Order: sequence, then structure tokens, then C-alpha cells
Amino acid sequence: MSEKIISIPYTEIEDLTKLNDDEQLLVNTAIDAAKQAYSPYSKFNVGAAVLLENDNIVIGSNQENAAYPSGLCAERVALFSAGAQQGKIAPRKMAIAAIKDGKLTDNPVSPCGACRQVFAEVEKRYSKSFSLLLIGKDKIVKFEKSGLLLPFTFNSIDI
Ligand code: THU
Repeated sequence: MSEKIISIPYTEIEDLTKLNDDEQLLVNTAIDAAKQAYSPYSKFNVGAAVLLENDNIVIGSNQENAAYPSGLCAERVALFSAGAQQGKIAPRKMAIAAIKDGKLTDNPVSPCGACRQVFAEVEKRYSKSFSLLLIGKDKIVKFEKSGLLLPFTFNSIDI
């Protein structure tokens, strides 16, 4: 018997000015995308912007439904949309931001478990990882590989 420990590296970034121009654009696109959310139930508007390897950006926002589980998170809307529109091109980076009561949230929004599972599948599909920028007013958190967020991912080899 032996205990194992998984540690997850991430970077905290004080503010937007510390990011490069491409990342700043991606972040601002994610914030703008949040304004397109359809969130009459939670009133929590999330935006995601995916930068693809061909430099195109695909956006997503949360789309809710009166039958709650029928809605979808911004991250999956963005990744599925990217897959549907430009399925041959791998994502390189994704920025995620949330707006509540008309303002960017103080803390970064952290993707739910179902979205993390989808990140893992996207990385597997393209045999390539993509990074995540989680945006808050007071802090930005960066993960170099989205798969870091979900250790022990369910995998097709488990079927
Ligand atoms: N939501 C997202 O779109 N992304 C996240 O990372 C967290 C949660 C959405 C789902 C739902 O529409 C609303 O935010 C409240 O949970």
C-alpha cells in the first residue's frame, strides 16, 4: 500500500496587463461573449473564447433551459461550436469569464466537472493540450493544460 499525491501547477496573474496581446484579446472576447448568455434562471452570465491553432476565435456562452439540465455551460458551447465549425483545427487556448449583476466576477469562474471531462476529450481528440485562462476582476488563473483540472478522467480505454 502506498499513498500517492497529485499536485496541480497553475499560475496566478494579477491583472490583464500582464498577459500578451493575443491573450488580452481572447480575454476581452470571453467577457464580451458573456453578454450573449441566455441565463434567465441563474442570471449568471458566462462567456468562453477558444483560440484555435489557425488563430480563429470561437465563442460560447451559457444557454439555459426551463428544464435545467437541458442547458449548457459556456465552455462546452464554445468547444462544441468549434468542433462543429472547424473540427479539423485544434484549440490552443481558452479564456473563461463570468458576469454577475452587470460586473465581471471578482474571482475567476472555475469550470464544472462535465466541462472538465469535455476538455479531456478535446485534448485526446487532437493529441494536443490547450491552456486555460480563468478570469476574475481581482485575479487571473492560468493552467497550461486544461487536462490538469481533472485527474483520473474517464477514458475510452475504460469502456
Ligand atoms: N456555468 C457555465 O457556463 N460555466 C461554468 O464554468 C460554471 C457554470 C453556467 C451554467 C449555468 O447556466 C450557470 O452558469 C449557473 O450555474
